[in-house]
Amino acid sequence: MMTKMKFVLLLAASLSFAGAARAGDTTLYDDLGGEAGLTRIVNDATDAFLADKRISATFDETNMDRFRVKLYEQFCELTGGPCKYTGHSMAEAHKGLHLRNVDFNALVEDLQDALDKSDIPFATQNRLLALLAPMQHEVVTR
Ligand code: HEM
Repeated sequence: MMTKMKFVLLLAASLSFAGAARAGDTTLYDDLGGEAGLTRIVNDATDAFLADKRISATFDETNMDRFRVKLYEQFCELTGGPCKYTGHSMAEAHKGLHLRNVDFNALVEDLQDALDKSDIPFATQNRLLALLAPMQHEVVTR
């Protein structure tokens, strides 16, 4: 009985601690520089995709103005910003592109370069990459 009680108290204490910590915390969106910071990162990353001979041809048929907007929306929503992603699902957007793991890795490298360019610390970069990692199996189809 005593042990159970202690557990409940501990749980309550840790929940309120978590709540307090969250209230003071910034979101990843904030840590990436909010609207201006994320816009710059998405644009630099997109420029890098188009300049990267390993993957640039994949974008030959793509409306890049739309791509930039959708990627921004997606990253903004994913990182806790005030946006709603209105694009296609990852499976839908990439089906027919026959992407491989090497293509995925190339795109992530280009994104990391863009994050470096904005002086985003390594730990913050990893928080973003961790959110993208689960999408790999939807994007890579061969
Ligand atoms: C986690 C990794 C990735 C994310 C988060 C991502 C995100 C997106 C988003 C948000 C869109 C727009 C969807 C829409 O128009 O509704 C898109 C489309 C596209 N992505 Fe990705 N993508 C990823 C990986 C890749 C890779 C590895 C490549 C190629 C190297 C790639 C090439 C493309 C192309 C070509 C389109 C446009 C397709 C079209 O023209 O309709 N993506 N992606």
